[in-house]
Amino acid sequence: MNDFELLERDGLARIGRLTTPHGTVDTPTLLPVVHPDPVRQPIPPIEIRRRFGLGAVITSSYIAFRSPELRERALSAGVHGLIGFDGPVMTDSGAFQQHAYGRVEVGPDEILDFQNRIGTDIATVLDVFVEPSADHDEAAAGVRATSERARSARRAREGLLAVPVQGGPFEDLRAESATDASAVGDVLAIGGVVPLLEQYRFAELARAVAAARPCLSPAGVVHLFGTGHPMTFAFGALLGVDLYDSSAYHKFARRGRLLLPEGTRALEQVREDWCRCALCHDLPLSELPRLADQEREIALARHNLLVSAEEMARVRQAIRDGTLWELAERRATAHPALLAGLRALKDHREVFRATEPESRRTYRETGIDSFRRPAVDRWRDRLARLLASGGGPRPMVRRVPLVPEYLALIPPYNENGAPLGWMCPTPLGPVPIELIETYPVGPILSEAEFGPGREAGRGAVLVSEDVTQALGTEVPADRDWESEWTRRQVRMLLEYRYGAAAAQNFGTTGGTGERSKRTHRLRSIRQDERVLFQIGNDGIPRPTFAGAEWVVEVLPGAHERVVVETDAAPFVAEGRSLFSRFVRSADPELAPGSSALLVDPQDRLLAVGRLLLAPGEMGVLRRGVAARVTAHRHAPSEPIEEPGADEL
Ligand code: GUN
Ligand code: ZN
Repeated sequence: MNDFELLERDGLARIGRLTTPHGTVDTPTLLPVVHPDPVRQPIPPIEIRRRFGLGAVITSSYIAFRSPELRERALSAGVHGLIGFDGPVMTDSGAFQQHAYGRVEVGPDEILDFQNRIGTDIATVLDVFVEPSADHDEAAAGVRATSERARSARRAREGLLAVPVQGGPFEDLRAESATDASAVGDVLAIGGVVPLLEQYRFAELARAVAAARPCLSPAGVVHLFGTGHPMTFAFGALLGVDLYDSSAYHKFARRGRLLLPEGTRALEQVREDWCRCALCHDLPLSELPRLADQEREIALARHNLLVSAEEMARVRQAIRDGTLWELAERRATAHPALLAGLRALKDHREVFRATEPESRRTYRETGIDSFRRPAVDRWRDRLARLLASGGGPRPMVRRVPLVPEYLALIPPYNENGAPLGWMCPTPLGPVPIELIETYPVGPILSEAEFGPGREAGRGAVLVSEDVTQALGTEVPADRDWESEWTRRQVRMLLEYRYGAAAAQNFGTTGGTGERSKRTHRLRSIRQDERVLFQIGNDGIPRPTFAGAEWVVEVLPGAHERVVVETDAAPFVAEGRSLFSRFVRSADPELAPGSSALLVDPQDRLLAVGRLLLAPGEMGVLRRGVAARVTAHRHAPSEPIEEPGADEL
């Protein structure tokens, strides 16, 4: 099995590293399709790496096998010698030729053996290409033949093996194929989708990948066959695609087309030199039409590859920043079909649930669909649960920045002395005022109301007339309700995060909240002189070691816990990261980015850890970190950024 290591993530999208005999592949990345005959390849692979930073390529073992001359050369010099490249090389098997020409003239064992003999870094099983137009029987037969061949290939190969996932448009078959591929494959390659990509059928593509998605092992590296248009990279990354392969840079160049993240452009329509990249500095786009055909084709192929590499780097940056949804939404404006694809993907909320992070640094709206992201789905579920658990009617205020000036004015009781909650209208609907700083509603409000010029924006009004009107009675001007609201906010945050019983318990201990002097936001929850929780920009309480000791007490069972194998426990207790292979079990309610209790098998608290992996990934990924320790007995808390201080 592979040793893929996940380093950073945004939902299903992962920054990762795969080790091959010819070096590491940093994902997500594009594997440019290289022709096995150097004479037919417009840009040498060495140049692709040096100039465009794309460090791994894919080539066709089938084309090499079918040409006696290339076959001889491949067998004597290896695939790396054949194409003139010393980095990681993946080889494809010939199923694409079955799609293109209706037949393949090699057997599955023979082509796998050939790939082994030419020293490929990642070999691909010869799958049966299932067309999107196939009927269920045909598609099922294709899936089963592919799975059979994959099992046989696994026995015949020690190195990395890519196993295609077929199934055409049938969700049950995509799921079955993904399950079978996950049992034997290092790379899980979603196939049979080239016609969907070529015909811009992105909604069908989204449904096909979404159907396979829950059955793809987290340890597998996910490949999407034939995605080469840079406008699709962010879309693919949302679904967790780690590897893209493409001859699009060359194919489009042959037809005089420029690939851009915003779509495709015909070279003859380019009248202005709007690109000032290094390539265009030497040879402006407006001069390309004057070149001889072959020169122009090569210049366009270079440009297309450069743009593709740049977009892939942008996708990686967005994963690190937690802004991949924003990027994908912006890219979806490239074509209505891509927007339809993104919408289809948002209909499959279950696909995203397990890996949806606890929070992100920001939440920026890009269009009318921006509030249909998984983060909002989850928030709504949690809020509904919280509100269902009781409380009386909640009147609405206009706007409530949680600053002392306003909190002082809002009476928490009605004229009969009964508790009175207040709701704040937000773009996500009415939200209890105690929760309006939590992700995602907090960042949405600060973008909407307090973005540029946020200090001025803080003047958003709640005045005593509003309260008077809503209550139908005068507000006693001589009362200051701030500390009561702070108490309630603490309680509701704990209920939101740890449930009603924990919040109730805390209420009896006389704990309090402390506000930031600068931003007035709640920044910690204390009991006596001890800080139990710190509250960062995302508005979510995160336990210190003392806070974790309290959670262990009040929440028995598996809640909030990641159980660490005995061997690793002493290291975690000293603050070393928890590695995936040392996780025994984890509360399935936890999410990447959650602050969890790291305990030993006897339920003794070792540390507090910020999770990188989702519970279902822990132990399955054999390499890398599952959680980073943020607090342990000898370093009871880590500094947390001042709430409201972060800008992105
Ligand atoms: N290239 C493009 N699509 C496919 C596919 O479905 N299988 C394989 N092996 N290669 C492809
Ligand atoms: Zn350019």
